[in-house]
This record gives sequence, structure tokens and C-alpha cells, in this order.
Amino acid sequence: MPSAPRVLVPLLLLATAACSSKSDATAPAVDAGTDTASCDQGSSVPAYVRSAGAEVTFPSGFLFGTATAGMQIEKGLVHADWYQWAADPKHVANGDKPDDGPDALAHIPEHVKAMQDVGASSYRFSIEWSRIYPTLDSFTSDTPDASALASYHQLLTALKAAKIRPFVTLHHFATPDYLDDITKPRDAQSFERPEMMTMFPLFATRMGKEFGAEVDDWVTINEPMILLLGAYVAQGHPPGAPADFKRMVAALKQLVRVHAAVYDALHAADTVDAGTGHAASVSLAKHNRVFYPRNPCEPGDVDAAAKTTYLWNEWIYNALVFGDWDDDFDGKYTGANDRQGDPTLKGRVDWIGVNYYGNTLVDSALPLPYVGGLPTYNDLPTSLPKTDMDWDVFPQGFRTVLKELVKYKLPVYVTENGVGDSQDVNKSRYLAEHLWEMAHAISEDGVDIRGYFYWSLIDNFEWGNGFCPRFGLYKVDRASAAKTLTPTKAAALFKQIAADRKLSASTIDAQPAYSSPVICQGPS
Ligand code: FCB
Repeated sequence: MPSAPRVLVPLLLLATAACSSKSDATAPAVDAGTDTASCDQGSSVPAYVRSAGAEVTFPSGFLFGTATAGMQIEKGLVHADWYQWAADPKHVANGDKPDDGPDALAHIPEHVKAMQDVGASSYRFSIEWSRIYPTLDSFTSDTPDASALASYHQLLTALKAAKIRPFVTLHHFATPDYLDDITKPRDAQSFERPEMMTMFPLFATRMGKEFGAEVDDWVTINEPMILLLGAYVAQGHPPGAPADFKRMVAALKQLVRVHAAVYDALHAADTVDAGTGHAASVSLAKHNRVFYPRNPCEPGDVDAAAKTTYLWNEWIYNALVFGDWDDDFDGKYTGANDRQGDPTLKGRVDWIGVNYYGNTLVDSALPLPYVGGLPTYNDLPTSLPKTDMDWDVFPQGFRTVLKELVKYKLPVYVTENGVGDSQDVNKSRYLAEHLWEMAHAISEDGVDIRGYFYWSLIDNFEWGNGFCPRFGLYKVDRASAAKTLTPTKAAALFKQIAADRKLSASTIDAQPAYSSPVICQGPS
């Protein structure tokens, strides 16, 4: 077995019915441009050839930020499903527990100073639902936890003083336990539950009213596909249900409707602020990848990679930007429940949020319905450099994924990109190469990218992989009472690029070549 990432082997197992026929699917082909190696080259994933040029610049006003999530950096989220899930050592490598992490809410000044020290102009973090409303009673009676509200206000006040623009996520993988009972994984949980349709919008309304004067930019849900895959297929996220593709698809459909309702709730609750003159601006953080055929000479793999690209990268934003609902995932809008321009979905994102971490291989020997293949993204048989997570380092794919977003004609924010690199040997080159490709997506591909959030500000609890992979621009001494931060080498580079608003090819060349990572094991 390969070392397991937090989401186990299958990346995409969406299936309920028969596979759509290959010839009639109009799913857009993989837009891998010139970076798709041909059959006779033997491997579908090309080596990195850096986009041309001697220097790139970043537009004025471009945000250089960092990102975190509450469950990964806060302590004491005892009413979150993930907290309870992580209590079982079988679910997290080394039996690591979130409480042994950076304890972020006790170290707000240090964290904001760390952002200032690298010249960050924005910060994406989550307001944790289960901290604000720990119990169903507290939610029903609208009795928020006073110290939770105070902590997030303290953070927002400190960010404002530091002129750092907040992007707030309302659901980053963790769900209150009254909406996700991990002891009953066979029952409807989390985004499958009917009450999610009303409770999440209500939570958003209250958060919009409470924090709207301090926050304009909202992320409703982080990485829907990863979340649902882990929850209902791969047993990598609570409730860890037995693999059931029908369930995952049903939950995905409801999640999209929940998002639309949360969008409406935030816009109603968070109107124009005196401070900024802005109203709410809402999207989600969508994890997109580049999908390649495992064998480029195998037509089934090629076809499955194209279908997976459509379903994984496009389906959600097609619904929320255009209102195009492809109920049977066949890439056409001719099915009984398909429709286009649905007014209840259309226009429910103000910008496109995208997280990028790399490439995936799709194998038609394991033909899953809808996509006709099994995608995997760790321990890949490529010669690309690997990360602590055993993912490939694939910077040109970043440009490919960004280019796919042009059709939405909306501003784009890169809500996450980063590398697990516990030895601090690869992070600088990774950062520079990804920023380089992103800059080309702006200048040459016409992608209207407004900001980039490096994942992550600090080392944190990396879900099923525990504390082993270190994504932080800052290392955290978790054993110290002060949870002392130490900048990585990449922090200085981030600071330089953010300050100069430019990056030269010679700066990339000056970074050390990739060296072997410490591959972190997943849960046993
Ligand atoms: C993303 C998650 C984020 C973090 C990074 C490494 O998929 O959104 O919380 O785990 O991966």
C-alpha cells in the first residue's frame, strides 16, 4: 500500500447508475494544453517546463495572503465532529490530536505579527460553527458562546489594525456534532441532513450580522468534493460512512443548494459597511486538479481523465455561476432533471475560489460510473518531485487549472496552495514556481486573479496525517507553552515577492533543487 493521504486511494467515486456512454458525453476535454504528453512519450504527466520569460509582475492591489482553518489550529473544539473523530487513534496518524496544535486563539497577536512580518495583505481563516454554538440548544435559542465571539472579534480587530483583509470560511471540514453524529455513520449526517438546508443559512445570517462590519469576503464551504469523498466514500472524514456513491452524490447535490441558500443569507445579512463601502462577497473554496490518463495509450484512461475533469473541476461552478444543473453528470443538459439557467442557483458566487495542490492519474481498469476510471493522487508512478503528503509537485498544472476558470468571467482568488515540507527544503522553490505559473495565467491566459493565499500561515493539524506534514510558512514549536513560531526559508521569499510585486526567473533558479521529502504516513 502506498502511504495514505488523508483521503484514501480513490479520489473520485461518484456513482449511482450506469456509466454514461463515452461517445455521447460532451464533458469538456481536459484542457491540459501543451502540457499533455502524447501516447508515444510513454507517460501522460510531463516534466515541468517553466513558462517562458525573465520576470513576472503582479497587478497592483493583488492580495498576498495566507490561509488556515479553525479545526487545524484551534484548541478545544470539543463539539466538532472532527474533534470526536480524531479522538480515535485509528483515524489520525500517530494518534495526533488537534488540541496539541498551535492553540491559535490563545496566540492571536503573535499570529497577526507573523503575517505582518511577511508583508501579508490578507488572511483566510474559519469561524468555527461548533465554537460559536456548541450545542443544539445554544443554536436553537441563539445563545452564542460569548468567549468564542470575543476571540473572533479580537482576531478581526487585530487584522484591521494590521491592514490585513480577512476572508472568512464558515465551514472548513468540521461540522457541529448535533449535525454529524459520528457514532451513526449509516444515518444521514452533515450535508445529507435536511435541516442543513435551514440551519446553515441561519448560522450564516447570524454570522453576517455579527461580523459583517468587519468582514466582506466569505467562503461558505471548503473543498466540497474532498469533504464528501472523505465522509461518504473513503472513510477519511467523519462520519466515515461505508463507501456509498449514491450517498455522496446526493450529499453533493444538497451541498450545492445549501451553498446557494447561504450565499443569499450572507448577502441579506451583510450589507454595505460604513467602514469599507463593501457588501458581502461570497464564494466557496473549490479544490481543483489536473487529471491525466494513467496510461496515455489507453483510450479508456484518456476518456476517463476528461470526464473526471468535468465532474470534479467544473460541475459545481457550472451550477453556481450559470445555473446549469447536470443532474446525471453526463456533461449534457438533456436529462430528465437537468436544467440550465436555474434562477435558484445561477449567480450564487461573486468570485471563483480555487485551491490547487497538483495532478491526478485516472485508471479505467477500475471504471467508476460517470467517469469510467479511478483517480488517485498520491504515490504516483511519475518522476516528479514529491511532497510530505506523497503528492507530485506539478506547477504547470496550476496554470492549467486556472485557465479552466476563464469561462466563468469572474474574479478568481487562489484560496489555497502550498506544500507539506517538514524539512523546509522544498517550500521556497514550490512557492516561487507556483507564483510564476499563476502570474502567467494572469498575463497570458486572461485569468482575472485577485489574490493568492499560501497554505498555510503556520504548521497545523493536517487531518488524517496529523502533525507530520508541515505546510507552514512558520514552524510551530508545539511543545513550548508559547507555541513559538520560527519562519521557514520560504517566509523570506514570500515577503520579498509580496513587497516587490515581481518575481524573476533568476530568483527561482537560486532556490535549492527539490530533495526527497519525509513521506508522512496516513492513519493505520
Ligand atoms: C486542503 C485543505 C486544507 C489543508 C490542505 C493541505 O485540501 O483544504 O485544510 O489540509 O489541503
